[in-house]
Amino acid sequence: MEIIERIKDMQAYSQDLRVEGKVISFVPTMGYLHEGHLSLMKEGRKRADVLVVSVFVNPTQFGPKEDLAKYPRDFDRDRSMMETVGVDVVFAPTVEEMYPDGYQTYVEVDEVTKNLCGMARAGHFRGVATVCAKLFHCVLPHIALFGRKDFQQLRVIERMVKDMNMDVGIIGMPIVREPDGMAMSSRNEYLNPKERKAALCLVKAITACRELFDNGERRVGALLDRAVGVVMNEETARIDYIRLAHTETLNDLVGVVWEKALLALAVYIGSTRLIDNTVLGEEFEKC
Ligand code: PAJ
Repeated sequence: MEIIERIKDMQAYSQDLRVEGKVISFVPTMGYLHEGHLSLMKEGRKRADVLVVSVFVNPTQFGPKEDLAKYPRDFDRDRSMMETVGVDVVFAPTVEEMYPDGYQTYVEVDEVTKNLCGMARAGHFRGVATVCAKLFHCVLPHIALFGRKDFQQLRVIERMVKDMNMDVGIIGMPIVREPDGMAMSSRNEYLNPKERKAALCLVKAITACRELFDNGERRVGALLDRAVGVVMNEETARIDYIRLAHTETLNDLVGVVWEKALLALAVYIGSTRLIDNTVLGEEFEKC
C-alpha cells in the first residue's frame, strides 16, 4: 500500500494508471475509520483496478464552534485497517498542501444545501463540495463512493458533479450499523457509555416511524410526531432537526407522502451532534 502526501505525486500516479487503461475508484474520508468506511472501500475494490482512499480532516467544512481540533485521528490504526481491505493508495495531504497561503476558491452548491444540515451548519457543504472537487482533481478517479449515512452530502456531490461536468461516477452506499442499530460514525467515539445508550433514540425513532409508515400512515405530521416523540422521551437528547424531505430536492414535505420520503435526524446527545436517516418506502439497510 502506497502513501502519497503531495498533490503533484498523486496526480502523476493516477495519470500513469489512466494511460495504462486502469480504472480508479476513490473513497474520500476524514479517517478514524470504521466498518462504514470499509464497506465503501470493499465495494470500490470490486469495481476498479486500483482503489485510492484519502484521509484528510478538512478544516473548511467545520464551523468555528465545531469539533475540528478534537476530531479523532489515528493514522496507524487507519493504515492497518486499509491494508486489510486491499487499498492500493492512501492520499493523505497536509492542510498546507490542500489550502496553501492565499487560497480563495470555493464551490457552492445551491438549492440542495439549503435545508437539513445546510441550515444547521452554515458553510459546511461549501467546505465539503470544495474539498471533494479538489480531491477529484488530485486523484482523477473514474468512480467515487459515498455513504448514505450523510445523505445530503451524497446529493450535494451528485449535483456538483453534474453541474460542473466532472467525469466521475458517484455511487451511494447503504448505512452500516452496529449490531444494536446505531449508525456507525467516527463521532460515536465522543460518547460515554451512558450517552452511547441514549444515542439509540435516533435509530429507535427511525424504526418507530418506519413501522407507522409500513402500517399505512402517510400524513407527514403524524409520521414526524412519532419520530419526535421517541427522541423527546430520551432526556439527554436535544433535537437539532427531524424532518421529512423529498429524496432528490431535500425540500420539506408537506401534507402526505406520495411515494418515498427521507426521514432525516440531527440530534445532540450531550455535546455530540449525531445524524441518521432512512428512506421511507425503501427497504431498511441491513444492520
Ligand atoms: P467521513 O465522515 O470520514 O466519511 C467518509 C465516507 O464514509 C462518507 O461518504 C460517509 O457517508 C461514509 N460513512 C460514514 N459512516 C458511514 C456508515 N455508518 N455507513 C456507510 N457509510 C458511512 O464524509 C466525510 O468524511 C467528509 O465529509 C468527506 C466526504 C471525506 C469530505 O471531507
